[in-house]
Amino acid sequence: MDFIQQKDLTGLNAMGLVSYAKNYVSLCNKKELKGISGLLEKGAPYFVLGGGSNVVLDKQIDQIVVHNQLKGVKLLQETTSHWLIEAAAGEVWHDFVLNCIRRGWYGLENLALIPGTVGASPVQNIGAYGVELQNRLDSVVAYDPINQQEIVFTNAQCRFSYRDSYFKHEGKGLIITAVRFLLPKQWEPVLSYPDLHNHPDLQQQVTAQAIFNAVCEIRQRKLPDPKVTGNAGSFFKNPIVSAQQYRELKARFPALVAYEQPENSYKLAAGWLIDQCGWKGRQLGNAGVHARQALVIINAGNACASDIVAIANAIKNDVLQKFGVLLEQEPVFVRN
Ligand code: EPU
Repeated sequence: MDFIQQKDLTGLNAMGLVSYAKNYVSLCNKKELKGISGLLEKGAPYFVLGGGSNVVLDKQIDQIVVHNQLKGVKLLQETTSHWLIEAAAGEVWHDFVLNCIRRGWYGLENLALIPGTVGASPVQNIGAYGVELQNRLDSVVAYDPINQQEIVFTNAQCRFSYRDSYFKHEGKGLIITAVRFLLPKQWEPVLSYPDLHNHPDLQQQVTAQAIFNAVCEIRQRKLPDPKVTGNAGSFFKNPIVSAQQYRELKARFPALVAYEQPENSYKLAAGWLIDQCGWKGRQLGNAGVHARQALVIINAGNACASDIVAIANAIKNDVLQKFGVLLEQEPVFVRN
C-alpha cells in the first residue's frame, strides 16, 4: 500500500474547487485499515475524504488524504419492532436511502437527495424537512488509526447537535467505517415542515415513497445539482439567538423568518438574512450566491478555496453589519 502523489481532487469535492493532494490513499476494504494506519504512524497530519460534499478544500493539500470508499449495506437484525441496518461509510447517501425505501425500511425518506456519503452523515448530523440523522441513528463504527482499534459509538456518545457532532471535534482523526440505523417498523410520516405539509402530492395518500418523491422534487427545485454547479449545500448554519435578540430584530425587521427553539432561543433563517443583504444571485470573483437559495454558495467557474473564503467573509460581514448576527460556516475548511 502506498500513496498516489499530486492527486487531483477537483472532481472529488462537490464544490468542484481546484485542489491537489500531495499524498492520497484510497480505502476500499476494511483489511486495508492497518496498512493505512502504518502510513499515518509517523504523526503526519491527515484527513478523511468521503463524498467531498461538505468540505472547502485548499488548492494544495499537504496533509495525507484518506479517501473512504468502503461499500456494503446489510440488515444486521430484525426484531418485531425495528430494523437494524448497517451501511458502509463509502456508500452514496442518496442511493442508500433509495435502497432502504425499495426494501421497505422506511424512515430516511425526508433525507433524500442530500449529497455525500453515509460516512459523512453523522459528522455534521445531516438534517432536512423535519428529520435529523440523530433521530434515526443507532451507532457509528469508527477506526482509530493511531491506536489501531475499532470503536463503536452509541447515539449519545456521538454528541449530536444541530449540524454538529463529536466527529467534528475530538473525533476528527477517526475513520468512520460504517453507520448503523434503527428504523421502526411502525412507520410514521414526518410532515411538520411546511413545504411537505402543503405539498400537492401529499394531500391524500401519504407513503414513504410519496414523501421521498416530494423531497426530491423540492430539493431539485430549490437547490443546485452539484454535478452541474459546484456547491456544498447550505454554506452557513442557521444561527441561534436569544429570545431577547430575536424580539429586537423582529421589531426592526417584521418579516424576519425564525423558528422557536428550546431554552428560550430562536433559530433564524440565514438564507433570509443573506437575501436581505442583496446577495442572492450575486458573484464575487469565481464564486457566487445561488439565485434561488441565498444560503448556497456556488462555484461560478474554476473557483479555488480563496474565492469561497472571500465571498463567505463578505457575506458574513454584511449580515453582521445589518443584523448584528455572526454567521457560522457549515462545511469543514480543509487547509493546506
Ligand atoms: N429564505 C429566503 N431567501 C433565501 C433562502 C431562504 O428568504 O434565499 C427563507 C425562506 O423563504 C424560508 C426560510 O428562509 O422562509 C428557510 O429557508 P428553507 O426552507 O429553504 O430552509 P433553510 O433554513 O434555508 C435548512 C437546511 C437545509 C435543508 C432545509 C430543509 C440548514 C443550514 N439548512 O435550510 O439543509 O435542506 O432547511 O429542511 O439548516 C444543507 O444543510 O446543506 C441543507 C440544504
